[in-house]
Amino acid sequence: MDPACSPKRRRVGDPGAVCVERPGTKFPEVMLFVRESKMGSSRRAMISALARDKGFGVADSFSTSVTHVVAERNQPKDVWSWLKNVSAKCGLEVLPEVLDISWLTDCMESGCRLPVEDRHRLKEESEEEVCTRSSSIPIYACQRKTPVNHLNRHFTDALEDLAEGAAFSESNGRALAFRRAASVLKSLPFRVARMEQLQGVPCLGKHSLGIIQELLDLGVCKEVEKIRSIEMNRVMKVFMSVWGVGLKTAARWYRDGLRSLSEVRASPSVKLTRMQQAGFEYHTDLARPVSHVEADTIAGAIRALVPNSFIAITGGFRRGKDVGHDVDLLLTHPDEGGEVGLLCKLLQYLDEQGCVMFQDYRDNTYKGTNAAGLNESKSTMDHFERCFTILRLPLCPRVTSREDDKVTGRHEVNEAATSHYTTHPKKKIPETRERAVRVDFVVCPSSQYAFALLGWTGSQQFERDLRRYASQEKAMSLSSHHLFDKQQNTFLRANTEEEIFAHLGLPYLEPSFRNA
Ligand code: UTP
Ligand code: MN
Repeated sequence: MDPACSPKRRRVGDPGAVCVERPGTKFPEVMLFVRESKMGSSRRAMISALARDKGFGVADSFSTSVTHVVAERNQPKDVWSWLKNVSAKCGLEVLPEVLDISWLTDCMESGCRLPVEDRHRLKEESEEEVCTRSSSIPIYACQRKTPVNHLNRHFTDALEDLAEGAAFSESNGRALAFRRAASVLKSLPFRVARMEQLQGVPCLGKHSLGIIQELLDLGVCKEVEKIRSIEMNRVMKVFMSVWGVGLKTAARWYRDGLRSLSEVRASPSVKLTRMQQAGFEYHTDLARPVSHVEADTIAGAIRALVPNSFIAITGGFRRGKDVGHDVDLLLTHPDEGGEVGLLCKLLQYLDEQGCVMFQDYRDNTYKGTNAAGLNESKSTMDHFERCFTILRLPLCPRVTSREDDKVTGRHEVNEAATSHYTTHPKKKIPETRERAVRVDFVVCPSSQYAFALLGWTGSQQFERDLRRYASQEKAMSLSSHHLFDKQQNTFLRANTEEEIFAHLGLPYLEPSFRNA
């Protein structure tokens, strides 16, 4: 009974729902599918005919256009296992409502489309199962698996926009609460379709639950739409899209009456930092996402320049993201102390080739054993030697996903770029087909490598929770430099990330699950 599937379609009232008009039906947003199982073919035909008569669209076979599945005397788990099977074959993104026939008979009796009530729904699992599963979701992001591609983007986008709006109005507590709510939804192994599924899920306050409920009921949420449309928020976002412009600067420009980037540039009272000047100059290039192929290319080229050292791509790319806003590189040397002077040499070399369009170098300020000051520091900034740069690159072919590697020839691209840096050291990169890319270099001694790697892999929310977990649950202080046990009054050594997780008594989480 698998029909040829029509294009993907979302359920009515769902995120981004597209209302497919069905001329000739009284309820164009509804497409029923009546399940034959237990009902028999003649009763199914009769009910379908009656429903059509009352103005409902009824599909003969299941397809992605079905919005409501109706069944009689079926075990919920049977219907759900059938539904998951057929919708997977169709590539259906959001599952339809699964209802007992009583909803349809009620509708037909009253002659209108009645709202779906809880009692009509055939639930995917018992309340008890939901509670057991939900209450097992831990409160810290570092205890949850959060993949890059999660199932609740519609809700998390909304909550993150609210978090951003709260941050813009300096309500940091509220911003954090929305971020935590979004983060826990990202870790759920199921798409939220009903509020009962969220019973016992931690980090969801009343406010966030209300937002989710409205999104489930209406597909949109008034408060979220309002936050998105507030002029200050929109303008702040534009200002903060310039590299080097943070919340405080953006708010100041807004308070000064500036409303666009051209107004900022034209304003005689605005004094830009060096970083902001570069941010404006290369704004178009830097706004373009960096692909993982470009990141690999850069890392490959840099590795070829400092062959005895070790260079890791960290940040979002290490977590499996396909695109990022920059490339984060962590440099170290197998011998403790061998890393000293490495970055300066590397930068000088790149500069000689005309590859460095901007650099902001900061020397190492780590004071070694003076743990107390670092431990109590609220700042996530570490003290490594680093350089924020904008590098000029040969433009890579546009690549949108890892699948495309085969097509574009990832290795070819890598080799081409590497040889460009290495075999023509004095040759400037030609002006055509080039772009500016943000590259951050961080240098650490090998004894701190595991901590630096963990710290620079992110995500920010994951790191935040990992440090909170260390401090609140283990009386330890974690930074990108070290792990300090406050009870034992000692530093705990680690050569690998696995060892750090083990010190904290946490199961190891692969980078690809740290996208909290
Ligand atoms: P990014 O801001 O580059 O984040 O910092 P990202 O996750 O890679 O995002 P995209 O893909 O570029 O947009 C990378 C990680 O480095 C850490 C943070 O934990 C962050 O998640 N970091 C960043 C620090 O530890 N210290 C810093 O000063 C900056
Ligand atoms: Mn990054």
